[in-house]
Amino acid sequence: MSYETILVEQRDAVTLITLNRPQALNALNTQVLADLTQAFRAYDADPSQRCAVLTGSEKAFAAGADIKEMVDKDAADFFLEDFFSGWQTGVVATRKPWIAAVAGFALGGGCELAMMADFIIAADTARFGQPEIKLGVAPGMGGSQRLARAVGKSVAMEMCLTGRMMDAAEAKQGGLVARVVPAADLLEDALKTAATIASMPPMAAMINKEMVNLAFETPLNQALTTERRLFQILTATEDKKEGMTAFVEKRPGVWKGR
Ligand code: HXC
Repeated sequence: MSYETILVEQRDAVTLITLNRPQALNALNTQVLADLTQAFRAYDADPSQRCAVLTGSEKAFAAGADIKEMVDKDAADFFLEDFFSGWQTGVVATRKPWIAAVAGFALGGGCELAMMADFIIAADTARFGQPEIKLGVAPGMGGSQRLARAVGKSVAMEMCLTGRMMDAAEAKQGGLVARVVPAADLLEDALKTAATIASMPPMAAMINKEMVNLAFETPLNQALTTERRLFQILTATEDKKEGMTAFVEKRPGVWKGR
């Protein structure tokens, strides 16, 4: 499968997706969304693939939604197209785990896309920001909500109101990213982490992902009940029997994926 705006390769059980619009600092236009939607769906549907990494270039993970595509649209266009809704159905809906490996600019929609990932690994060159206010608008792909949940109200509010960028060290300190690594090691580190996740029982990985996301979407009591039910579902899998038996027999588990 070849795409216009992204590169996709499989490295054993890990799918590597690279944003590839260098001339526009990987600005996210309609074609990027269509390509990512197709790539993430293909990843979800392929039982040989167990974790994915989304990355950009050294200079930019993505410098935002494509301003040149939006400049001539009016409010009715945005409303009638339900502009940006496809990110939820095409990218966030991915059921298997994926990591954003971010170097350089992750601004506006770029920051929002990184925050759609299950977690972010940042290069020390990464810079995050929601500068939409400078364009007379505001985040539209989840940025105000996910940033506030990640770093708290004060910092998120300050970033959205001033449009300032946050460097990798601040992003780590604020909990926006899981880890910061030297830029030269970013891809290797992210792929290695993805390989670790890919070595886990795949249904357990999907359910762990679903469970952690409950913390952001569901009241605590309901989330705790759902956590228990999801846990109970996992106990019915062949991989649960294999995982526990393998532990007792002091050997690595061999996963069936069900
Ligand atoms: C379209 C973009 C772009 C973007 C950069 N480019 N960002 N094109 N949409 N978001 C293009 C530039 O126009 C330029 O193309 C090329 O990429 C290189 O960018 P430069 O500006 O020349 O690079 P540099 O001087 O290094 O500055 C890098 C930068 C700057 C600081 C990241 O490009 C920048 O501020 N970009 C916009 C960031 C932003 O505002 N993002 C939020 C977008 S709105 P040409 O052809 O001119 O050489 C958003 C959500 C909107 O994401 C929701 C509202 C509905």
